[in-house]
Amino acid sequence: MSLSDDLAHLQQDALAQFAAARTSEAVEAVRIAFLGRNGRIKELQKAFGQASAEEKRALGALFNQCLESVKQAHQNAQLGLAGAEVDEPIDLTLPSGARHLGSVHPLSQVAREVEEVFTSMGYTVIDGPHIEQDEYNFGRLNIPADHPARDAQDTFWLTSQGWRDGDRLLRTHTSAVQSRTYRLVGEGTLTPPFRRVVVGKVFRYEAVDATHDNTFTQVEGFVVDKEITVAHLVGTIRTLLTAVLKRDDVEVRLRPSFFPFVEPGFEVDVRSTSAEPGSRLSRWVELLGCGMIHPRVLEQGGVDPSRWQGFAFGLGLERLAMIRHDITDIRLFNGADLRSLHQFGTGA
Ligand code: DAH
Repeated sequence: MSLSDDLAHLQQDALAQFAAARTSEAVEAVRIAFLGRNGRIKELQKAFGQASAEEKRALGALFNQCLESVKQAHQNAQLGLAGAEVDEPIDLTLPSGARHLGSVHPLSQVAREVEEVFTSMGYTVIDGPHIEQDEYNFGRLNIPADHPARDAQDTFWLTSQGWRDGDRLLRTHTSAVQSRTYRLVGEGTLTPPFRRVVVGKVFRYEAVDATHDNTFTQVEGFVVDKEITVAHLVGTIRTLLTAVLKRDDVEVRLRPSFFPFVEPGFEVDVRSTSAEPGSRLSRWVELLGCGMIHPRVLEQGGVDPSRWQGFAFGLGLERLAMIRHDITDIRLFNGADLRSLHQFGTGA
């Protein structure tokens, strides 16, 4: 093929491609392909350089004209784009994008209610760190290193340079905040009596299914005072459940149980006498652990157990919210599926 044919082809291709380019990226790509440093025009220019003087004379004008027309096509393509942007019609009658009002997460709603009930009973709301030390999460709660009670709480241990740290972990329960609080007494910055409640995240190395999550929320309440009895504990729990489950017929039942940081320890079941037959609360539902704070736990923190005693309890907030709203899958809470969450919508 002769140089003049090549020139004609190139010009034809370039004009067609610039005309077809619809975006600025596409126009730029065509420019690089033809007018770029290694583009087709540069290639042809090299070939032209090797042509005889006679050919050069004959084709010089043709070459310049081809170059000019490609440049012009590039300019036109750019102008076309700018025009397209300006000419885009704006339809003022179209409905605007829907705006959704956010709502308070169902867990946060229940958490607020729990905190309200407890503050009305003279409790202070506190929290502790999510990254805890063995000492507070286990040791000071009467769960020494080799105690089998550790097995009940599959733990996320932190690592340090690839090795298990041996000391730091993601707290497995909010009871860790109890040991932190008692320690303040030993340090002289807190004096009994006191009532505290914690609503906070806890973490367990659990296989996730409809009733287990590896990240969930616990409520921990504890009272240190004089002449505190199990009757105070039962009354407190009944007050909590009446308020949060929004029923005035809740019945609670205590079963003896073992938790290293209380003595005696109980598990509490709840039911509602007016619940519809067949509904969840028509039968006993296991809900929480509690007991009288173990004297050794108080002592470890520096609280004199011959002068002070108290009760403590801990329960899963998700479980409470599930009973309250008849939710059957715990994964809904951390799942961030707005279709489910909006059903519990309430303004902030
Ligand atoms: N910390 C316990 C757990 O996560 C729950 C618990 C049981 C808390 C008994 C308490 C208690 O304060 O007295 O399994």
